[in-house]
Amino acid sequence: MPDLEAILLVGGQGTRLRPLTLGTPKPLLQTAGVPFLAHQLARARSFGVRRIVFATSYKASMFEPAFGDGAAFGLSLVYMTEETPLGTGGAIRNAAEALTAGPGDPVLILNGDILSGHDIGEQVRVHRAKQAAVTLHLTEVDDPSRFGCVPTDEAGRVTAFLEKTPNPVTNRINAGCYVFTRSVIDSIPRDEVVSVERETFPGLIESGELVLGYADRTYWLDVGTPTAYVQGSRDLVLGKLSSPALPGPTGEYLQLEGARISPEAKVQGGTAVGARAVVEAGASVVGSVLSDDCVVEAGATVTDSVVGQGARVCAGTVVRDAVIGDGAIVRPGNELQNGVRIWPGIELPERALRYSSDV
Ligand code: GDD
Ligand code: MG
Repeated sequence: MPDLEAILLVGGQGTRLRPLTLGTPKPLLQTAGVPFLAHQLARARSFGVRRIVFATSYKASMFEPAFGDGAAFGLSLVYMTEETPLGTGGAIRNAAEALTAGPGDPVLILNGDILSGHDIGEQVRVHRAKQAAVTLHLTEVDDPSRFGCVPTDEAGRVTAFLEKTPNPVTNRINAGCYVFTRSVIDSIPRDEVVSVERETFPGLIESGELVLGYADRTYWLDVGTPTAYVQGSRDLVLGKLSSPALPGPTGEYLQLEGARISPEAKVQGGTAVGARAVVEAGASVVGSVLSDDCVVEAGATVTDSVVGQGARVCAGTVVRDAVIGDGAIVRPGNELQNGVRIWPGIELPERALRYSSDV
């Protein structure tokens, strides 16, 4: 397959992932030991993508220091920024100024928060063979109301695009990876706020253009919520999705440089232990993300949670399905559960919070 160009959408604010995204944009959050995007970049490269234009907005200046010109990834990377966010369509149109593809060439567009095992090469082949205007990767989820609902006919032609509808007509949803014919991108108005989901796709379907679905049932996850983000990291460490970007041996856990795990601690379930993080004796950490320089003290229990950079979970504390912000301290006698989020730098005094399932 000839070299392929891509646009990566990374300008969103990651609101649902606060407080993790207050200091770091969602695509740069450490996931299985590397910035989330490293997994997407490596997979894209493995399918023949050689040049990627980043469509940045929120915390735009943080991307180039993380990935540079892309040479380390075997890619050529270009950064485009919207002064004010232009929405998904406006971002694609703005980033397209940096493309080299000709009008009839396919261009890959990726949402910057997706882990997917699908065959991008096959998606591009289908797009070319059928000469579609756009070919959307589709997957199936239990709750389609949180996504773009995408019904198709028997031939795979998309018949409607219903973004976040309360009454989905199918479980098949937009998986956030598109092949656009370049000239179709150029037809999106410039310097305007445009949503591909609410305007461009419905408009193309309405005017009779061929919008195709490429459906499959491989691994797929949008890491846009804390629960999903922790799951993504865990699945990568457990090998449920292979990634060429994993920084070391994986299995029950992944450990970055300088991490210290007591031989009397239990660390398992796909936990990622960040650089210089400490897990003391008798602590139990399961299926979680421990960020760089954090400490889980003796006898503490951390399950399905994120412990932020430099944060401290003190002796005996219980943390389950929770997010502890960077630098926060959770003093002994606390029990954090059920999606609780502690903001960065907060010190939770002894016995301040206790969750009881009886309440
Ligand atoms: N540059 C730029 N500018 N990027 C943006 C902007 C913007 O104004 N708005 C959003 N993005 C980026 C986000 O960073 C993310 O990578 C991508 O566009 C999608 O935004 P999300 O905020 O993650 O959208 P979503 O998850 O609610 O819904 C989208 O993804 C679903 C699949 O995960 C939609 O495309 C749905 O139709 C789809 O089902
Ligand atoms: Mg998303």
